[in-house]
Amino acid sequence: MKVTVVGAGAVGASCAEYIAIKNFASEVVILDIKEGFAEGKAMDLMQTASLNGFDTKIIGSTSDYSKTAGSDVAVITSGIPRKPGMTREELIGINAGIVKSVSKSLLEHSPNTIIIVVSNPMDTMTYLVHKTTNLPKNKIIGMGGALDSARFKYRLAEALGAPISDVDGMVIGGHSDKGMVPLINKAARNSVKVSEFLSEERMEQVVQDTKVGGATLTGLLGTSAWYAPGAAVSAMVQAIACDTKKVFPCSALLDGEYGLSDLSIGVPCVLGSNGIEKIVEISLSDAEKAKLAESAVGVQKTNGLLEL
Ligand code: LAC
Repeated sequence: MKVTVVGAGAVGASCAEYIAIKNFASEVVILDIKEGFAEGKAMDLMQTASLNGFDTKIIGSTSDYSKTAGSDVAVITSGIPRKPGMTREELIGINAGIVKSVSKSLLEHSPNTIIIVVSNPMDTMTYLVHKTTNLPKNKIIGMGGALDSARFKYRLAEALGAPISDVDGMVIGGHSDKGMVPLINKAARNSVKVSEFLSEERMEQVVQDTKVGGATLTGLLGTSAWYAPGAAVSAMVQAIACDTKKVFPCSALLDGEYGLSDLSIGVPCVLGSNGIEKIVEISLSDAEKAKLAESAVGVQKTNGLLEL
């Protein structure tokens, strides 16, 4: 299993680190346009190998895509992150050009790779890769729901006073402050619905805190978060590499599923060696369906800004 991570910024480097620590990939190649930066990150990470007990070989390069040849999975994190007060949508102008050229360069050297898109606005960047490459739709996956669901579980555990391992919950919809749809009425503590433990007001607070999970961190850190995004991508890469068939909400190109078409948005997906092996259509309440439909309108509006 060879994995490429494009962009050696905080998210890309965390992603490479978590993949290495989990020790399931033979090779991780990190690329960055900043001269020497990816080489430095790769060398620093390799010097943790004996300490952290992994054999994954990490190679860094300043944009030499020939080093990425034969990648099974490629993660695109490149582009500018948001600053405090910015929405993910405001990044579209710069990031669309970057994501388009990065995906083209990746496919020149790894025509059969699976691409995971992290760059924001993520659902629209994922749609852009669908529209500008010939990869089959199961091989282009947006990372958002895995991260948003992890943040949801964090907030649920906090509200419940429960260990995270006792908590289950999923966030579907667009990866944006307004577009996320945390499925609070399906969330559970060890199979018992959280509504048995929490008031309506507390549940609503969990939903709101989840939706601004990324923005809260951007305010605190001065830039976009990286540990949880890196961990979310590495969990998805692991599911693909190890063919686990785990379900993650991912930004997938829809063709009638959930009554939606011609957009990429967060829905539950089975991940395995073919990328998205199946889009799972769960039953949604009327209120949940309405929220997903509203979220889709927001994503489509952002997609409309792309110059395709
Ligand atoms: C976040 C970025 C990765 O939500 O979109 O932290």
